Amino acid sequence: KLKKEAMKRSLKELIKKYSLEKSSILPILNELQDEYGEVGEDLMEELAHSLEIHPTEIEEVYSFYSFLNKKRGKHVIRLCQTISCDLKGKKRLEKQLINELGIKFGETTQDGLFSLEYCNCLGMCDRGPVLMVDKKLISRVKPADIPIIINACKNNNLDEKFEDTIISNVQIEGPLL
Ligand code: FES
Repeated sequence: KLKKEAMKRSLKELIKKYSLEKSSILPILNELQDEYGEVGEDLMEELAHSLEIHPTEIEEVYSFYSFLNKKRGKHVIRLCQTISCDLKGKKRLEKQLINELGIKFGETTQDGLFSLEYCNCLGMCDRGPVLMVDKKLISRVKPADIPIIINACKNNNLDEKFEDTIISNVQIEGPLL
């Protein structure tokens, strides 16, 4: 219940932050999804009400972006599965991630902390294999880096640990798969 109230408050703030236009639907949904891992029907209705549109319009955007429409853990680790990264050791990272987190790709750990996903080329093929951890890209990842990355996520100090290899913060605009 507390979460619901917090979500409602966030929605009100986001409505203030973005203009009351249809183009605000996606960034608002994106922020809610990022913060709470889901956007419930009641929030969609409230957003629709604020924008004076039919809730189905919001639902359409939400389901179209299947990327958003999925419950994820607090941290999402995405492994590039495209050919260059594949040739540079993607499979070893894949195995290490599965072992360390005890989940398969497409799953979320029971404590809700981590989700594992694949993604396609992140544009850093010469520096593969590449991981996208939340919104950060980490290049030339070795299997031994995986436990360090996981711990750094838990301790919120990923930047410090991977100062040299974190290339950029990427803003996700749509489905990667
Ligand atoms: Fe992985 Fe391009 S193939 S970044």
